[in-house]
Amino acid sequence: MRVVILGSGRGSNAEAILQAQQAGQLGRARVVALFSDKPDAGILALGPRFGLPASYIDPAPFKTKLEGEGEARFIAAVRAAQPDLVVLAGFMRVVKPGLLAAFAGKIINLHPSLLPSFPGLDGIGQAFRRGVKVTGCTVHGVTAEVDGGPILDQATVRVAPGETLETLAAKVHAAEHALLPAVIARLSEMR
Ligand code: GAR
Repeated sequence: MRVVILGSGRGSNAEAILQAQQAGQLGRARVVALFSDKPDAGILALGPRFGLPASYIDPAPFKTKLEGEGEARFIAAVRAAQPDLVVLAGFMRVVKPGLLAAFAGKIINLHPSLLPSFPGLDGIGQAFRRGVKVTGCTVHGVTAEVDGGPILDQATVRVAPGETLETLAAKVHAAEHALLPAVIARLSEMR
């Protein structure tokens, strides 16, 4: 199962996927390319480290969504990598029907809350400020509804007494780093 990862940030989840692959824990999945909409994103530095192509793709003309010319550039680049699965790992843009149609049923997303609670930006901060006692992370299929597609799996994180936003974020990220590779491995075995 050929996997393409799209990300905008640090790339810690892409790194967790690649480490799982190196450890033989990614099932029949194999990461074939990394792409980012941010030229200086940490995720792009993983390419040389893991011997993979990693490219910035200009997402213009929009600021927060991927549509129009930028979407067409992403579709062409991702399509060239011939993915069976497209993983949004911290890809901070709303994907639109063009990309969804190009890779229909093949796109999954990681979100740092227990959906359907706290969709959108800053899921960890939203949950922390709301004062929930349990939060976590979700991997779901991507549809036109933002953070609304079918839930594939979730992991829970308890909010401890005295928890700060920083300590909670670290716990949610650790849960993500275990959950996302496990879901990819499982999907690869189901094909
Ligand atoms: C992760 O916490 C992921 O859940 C979140 O961005 C972070 C990326 O971290 N995604 C979203 O909030 C999507 N709405 P990373 O770049 O270190 O993998």
